[in-house]
Amino acid sequence: MGPAGRNRTPVISFLRMLKDLFRFIQNPIPVLTQYLRESGDTFLLFLTPRSKALVTTKPELIQYVLQKNHRNFKKSHLQTDHLAHFIGRGLLTSNGAYWLQQRRLIQPGFHRKKLQGLVEIMLREINTYIDQLHQRIRSNDQVEIAFEMTMLTFNVVSKSLFSTDVEESVLSRLSQNFNAIQSFIVKPIRQPFLIPWYKATGQWKKHELIAADLKEIVLNIIRQRRQSGKHPDDLLDMLLEARYEDTGEGMTDQQLLEECLILFIAGHETTANAMAWAWYLLCRHPACLKQLRAEIKTVLGSEPPSFDTIPKLEYTSSVLQEVMRLYPPAWILDRVPIEDDQFEDLSLPKGRNIGLYIYGIHHDPKYWPEPEQFEPARFTKEEINKRPSFAYLPFGGGPRLCIGANFAMMEMQMMLVRLLQNFEMALVEDEEIDLAPYISLQPASAINIRLRPV
Ligand code: HEM
Repeated sequence: MGPAGRNRTPVISFLRMLKDLFRFIQNPIPVLTQYLRESGDTFLLFLTPRSKALVTTKPELIQYVLQKNHRNFKKSHLQTDHLAHFIGRGLLTSNGAYWLQQRRLIQPGFHRKKLQGLVEIMLREINTYIDQLHQRIRSNDQVEIAFEMTMLTFNVVSKSLFSTDVEESVLSRLSQNFNAIQSFIVKPIRQPFLIPWYKATGQWKKHELIAADLKEIVLNIIRQRRQSGKHPDDLLDMLLEARYEDTGEGMTDQQLLEECLILFIAGHETTANAMAWAWYLLCRHPACLKQLRAEIKTVLGSEPPSFDTIPKLEYTSSVLQEVMRLYPPAWILDRVPIEDDQFEDLSLPKGRNIGLYIYGIHHDPKYWPEPEQFEPARFTKEEINKRPSFAYLPFGGGPRLCIGANFAMMEMQMMLVRLLQNFEMALVEDEEIDLAPYISLQPASAINIRLRPV
């Protein structure tokens, strides 16, 4: 490690990076955590022999980048270009003026009050899933919960977007295509040097064709909805009805397509992973599970949750927040300064990749005593007020804060409640599950759970 200019930011040398490369590719989290332990809250590492990236867990610096001076920072090519190549430029993958225009247009549709209609759609979908689960566990009482949650969140997002417009066979084609694209996209992000190989072996082309099929399906749904003149209370209706302030026009079919695909991508795997970790943690912490059941019984009895009763489920909300502290689905965010910048005495040169290491800050003992312990009581109002606001950011922060944060919290609360109102659950094997940090933070192995109707 050596000094970097006058800032003396610790630097992880290129040689050291090479030595750790294999471990880093396998799982970057333990390596980054080790560098943090040695360097403090901010350090530089080499991406290539000639380009360095800054990694930080300093709340004030994160707040500067995401909020205070956010106009001078854009998302990196690494984060957006491959996704945009296959899926398109929607909120998640755009920058600058186009992003702002789209955000202003779409934001009102995600306002808490607007979610009332969506809560009903979500609940219907969750109930359908639970009925099927009751049937299934008659012959096999074990489920792999990450797979289950991926299926369920996919169905919830697709019904929230398109209500009942889509036949089951089309939904399953959509789901297969999305899964194929999502697992492929991770590869060029993690190992960009292999892109020529993916192209030479035809894998790139194969996934372009899958993406084209995906786009055709969604474009058909959009066109049919336009022609039908129907207005169900769903996200597609909201997107179709939204008007740009200056022109009074709505989005084109192409723009609608890109935003729908982005909502699928952004809203499905993140939520599924948070839910998988939630079941894993709850099964390992029976006292928390008991307290959760007690809250549900007091607030709801056996009634399903509703738009009005969800805010009363305070412990349920704390549990989910603590799950996303320990296992933040978006475990790292990145930004690049558009012009040379400066934070205190740290220079942030134009073009430098800056990793906002969310997993690192969520496990920092400065803000979280005994950080590896699962302790939902960290999220009472009083405890929250004691911490810097940018020490906890599962949904990001500043103007690019996750547009689906309220949607996701409500969805996850309903899933927890309805499953607990219906089933007792236990891990088949009570063992440590490793982290698999892809685009979102997945469990590295199966989480098998045994279910019994309550
Ligand atoms: C537990 C679930 C979720 C987590 C942890 C999560 C996390 C995040 C984070 C951290 C960002 C900011 C990324 C950045 O600044 O680089 C983000 C952005 C976004 N999320 Fe979520 N998200 C979740 C669920 C959802 C859902 C359900 C939807 C939609 C239905 C959604 C839609 C979006 C969109 C469109 C953006 C881009 C916003 C923009 O840049 O303007 N997310 N999400």
